[in-house]
Amino acid sequence: MKQLIIIPVLLALSATTNAEAAKGRQLHEKNCMKCHGTEVYTREKRMVNNRDALVKQVKRCQLNLGVQWFNEDVDAVVQYLDQTFYKFDK
Ligand code: HEC
Repeated sequence: MKQLIIIPVLLALSATTNAEAAKGRQLHEKNCMKCHGTEVYTREKRMVNNRDALVKQVKRCQLNLGVQWFNEDVDAVVQYLDQTFYKFDK
């Protein structure tokens, strides 16, 4: 019986994560490709090696932009970058 409850919860969680990543992708496309492209996320000597460092770097770059994002926006972009390029979750 337990599986019957767990499966919908997992589906709901992954739907939230994907919606967050989709929002992050939009924010990223609009704001984050002015100084560098996505190649910095996958280069051999990339600076960011864990999820905490990624959060810090996104905040730093976001401040360079002169915009002040909400934490949710930072989280969404972190989620997008992690899922698409860094893959720290796996
Ligand atoms: C004002 C210019 C500028 C903007 C705009 C900018 N960045 Fe950056 N970003 C940099 C520089 C400079 C580096 C360091 C690149 C290097 O060492 O070659 C960097 C590096 C990074 C890295 C680390 C890459 C690695 O080596 O692992 C991440 C992640 C990153 N930026 C995310 C973002 C995000 C997200 C945004 C949008 C909020 C953004 N950047 C917008 C200048 C910028």
